[in-house]
Amino acid sequence: MQQVKLGSTGLEVGVAGLGSGGSSRLGQGYGATKESSIRVVKSALDLGVTFFDTAAVYKTEEIVGEALKGQRHKVVVSTKAQIVKPGTPSLGDDLAPPQQIRAGLESSLVKLQTDHVDVFHLHGVMPHQYAHCVDHLVPELLKMRDEGKLRFIGITERFITDTDHEMLIKALDDDFWDVVMVGFNLINPSARKRVLPVTRKKQVATLIMFAVRAALSKSEALKSLLLDLAEQGQIDRKFAQSDNPLGFLTDRGVAPSIIDAAYRFCRHEPGAEVILTGTGSVDHLRENINSIISGRLPDETLEHLENLFGHIHTVSGN
Ligand SMILES: NC(=O)c1ccc[n+]([C@@H]2O[C@H](COP(=O)([O-])OP(=O)(O)OC[C@H]3O[C@@H](n4cnc5c(N)ncnc54)[C@H](OP(=O)(O)O)[C@@H]3O)[C@@H](O)[C@H]2O)c1
Repeated sequence: MQQVKLGSTGLEVGVAGLGSGGSSRLGQGYGATKESSIRVVKSALDLGVTFFDTAAVYKTEEIVGEALKGQRHKVVVSTKAQIVKPGTPSLGDDLAPPQQIRAGLESSLVKLQTDHVDVFHLHGVMPHQYAHCVDHLVPELLKMRDEGKLRFIGITERFITDTDHEMLIKALDDDFWDVVMVGFNLINPSARKRVLPVTRKKQVATLIMFAVRAALSKSEALKSLLLDLAEQGQIDRKFAQSDNPLGFLTDRGVAPSIIDAAYRFCRHEPGAEVILTGTGSVDHLRENINSIISGRLPDETLEHLENLFGHIHTVSGN
């Protein structure tokens, strides 16, 4: 596994990280047994993955904790806390008090069977929720860091709604975030101009999510997304209606699959440090890691993608 430095944290991890959320949640999202999900995490370890991301809301922390038993010292564990009060809408204004964040971390530590996490994020923060995070939650995060319960503080955007990174752009004006998680993929590469130049300049560790998601793994989802973009006048209608619009990615041996191209697209983007892959399948995991450690897409393919989608910032690919 190729190794990358995580911003200025001093951590070094494999470039492919395992995500335990998304629609798969290690397979829990579609009824996999706990044993099968544990197998996915253990296989990731065997394949050289050293960055593991989870979150309280995914309900996969216990699985990750169980699978990493005895190996904790070899890996970097990242988890997250919800910033709204339990049972309230995640986009709402009923925001968590600092005690809720502390209780969240304590509970995550038990589930993960560890005395500290390496990265603790505020999860899916919207632009209008950011000021509360700064005024009320960051001081608590810093206290918990001083107590040794977490090593680095992070923040993740809600890419499904905040597709043009408004929250992260605000967050990157501040200096306390060690790590950010940003949505980036070949259909919405807007982080390239809006986020990654700043994370690179400030040496903020950068984790990439949404590399594939539904649009790049399911042809029906892709079709419907492209038709929506055509409807909004953002891409050519004939292109959106064609039988195999992204066929140029797999023609003439460019890539074995759209998914392979999608992970490689992210992996070779300057500033993209860890590429998260979310799956409940050991076979998919193996394929995806192979893609992430494969070469850059050819220049002419990247130029073609830039012409088609370089201006898109209104969809996530969910
Ligand atoms: N705001 C946030 O904090 C936030 C939001 C979203 C995600 N995340 C983190 O980022 C991680 C990665 O995001 P993501 O889950 O959206 O991951 P992703 O890697 O972009 O997409 C995963 C989806 O693609 C499918 N897939 C993956 N590999 C495949 C393959 N080789 N063939 C066919 N289908 C394949 C998976 O289904 P299968 O299970 O069938 O493989 C899954 O539905 C999450 O797990 C989570 O840790 C964080």
